[in-house]
Amino acid sequence: MKNTMKIAIVGLGVIGKVHAAALAEQGKALYAVCDIDAAQMQAYPEALHFTDYETMLREAKPDAVHICTPHYLHAPMILSALEKNIHVLCEKPLCIHKEEIDMILAAEKRSSAQLGVCQQNRYKKASVFAKKYLEGKSFTNGYGTVVWERSDAYYRSGAWRGKWATEGGGTLINQALHTMDLLQWMLGMPKTVSASLSNLHNEPAVEVEDNAVCFFGGDSQITLLATTGAGHDNPVEIVLHADGETLRILNDTVYINEKPVSFEEQAPLLGKSCYGIGHSPLIKDFYDCIESGRPFPINGEEAAKVIRMILACYESKGKQVSID
Ligand SMILES: NC(=O)c1ccc[n+]([C@@H]2O[C@H](COP(=O)([O-])OP(=O)(O)OC[C@H]3O[C@@H](n4cnc5c(N)ncnc54)[C@H](O)[C@@H]3O)[C@@H](O)[C@H]2O)c1
Repeated sequence: MKNTMKIAIVGLGVIGKVHAAALAEQGKALYAVCDIDAAQMQAYPEALHFTDYETMLREAKPDAVHICTPHYLHAPMILSALEKNIHVLCEKPLCIHKEEIDMILAAEKRSSAQLGVCQQNRYKKASVFAKKYLEGKSFTNGYGTVVWERSDAYYRSGAWRGKWATEGGGTLINQALHTMDLLQWMLGMPKTVSASLSNLHNEPAVEVEDNAVCFFGGDSQITLLATTGAGHDNPVEIVLHADGETLRILNDTVYINEKPVSFEEQAPLLGKSCYGIGHSPLIKDFYDCIESGRPFPINGEEAAKVIRMILACYESKGKQVSID
């Protein structure tokens, strides 16, 4: 189906290109692109080009914008688009400061446009199966492990990376966010956390944490172990427990009491394997929601849950704090 919507992307770096490829794969034309680095837009000659976001919103007047910029720009860019009733699909994280959550939720309420956030791992078949399997069951306990590599070269690949002011954190808000989101989505929102974070990187430009051990409590008990100091991107593992039952997710396989149920993903892998295949089905669902008037499931409030968990981890410094 050809789209009649005017779709724009701001930020054509690593992930902006994945959004552009997903739109192309779905036959959706790109109406406008914006990047402060004009060279990033050269691959999209069919679209209007802008180097300033506000100018793009004002002059191109898109119906929807994909925000694929560094973390600190998400909140102001979301607010500006929602105020103009432009639909927003923002890359994770929703934002990096607590005050921004309230501002975004209020703007979302005032706007006639939808806000969606790209927490695409919820769209993997194994995640969808697990979520459905857990319905009505008493799973309230689980853990996730993220053991990945982010080298010095990775941190040097963008001036915004590795800094509190522009990335808003490290391993938790950037890499482990997806796993933390899946754990709370499947087990329920925890009320407290004790977290111990460290920075073992040898690169002085990396201010943020690259290791985290987080114990979440409340109605659900969640443990998250995350590091980006490993020598390889290992598969993420999630294990959930109920009385006498275990559910384990590893890659595209869900193990119920260690018996495997495998899923063949139909969507293409458009970026690095650690991003998973979720961008395509998520983007498709976002536009299906807009076209049908159905609310997109990962809206501001839903995406804010994992941000509240992460900001509480940053506040914790080893002590138990509440998540609010
Ligand atoms: N969902 C996922 O799995 C996933 C994977 C990778 C990245 N991401 C997220 O995508 C976002 C971008 O990450 P990335 O790796 O693509 O970063 P990147 O540095 O490769 O790309 C960012 C782009 O934004 C542009 N930019 C910066 N300031 C701008 C401004 N004011 N106006 C317009 N353009 C501007 C830069 O020139 C660059 O091209 C981050 O939020 C990141 O966490 C998500």
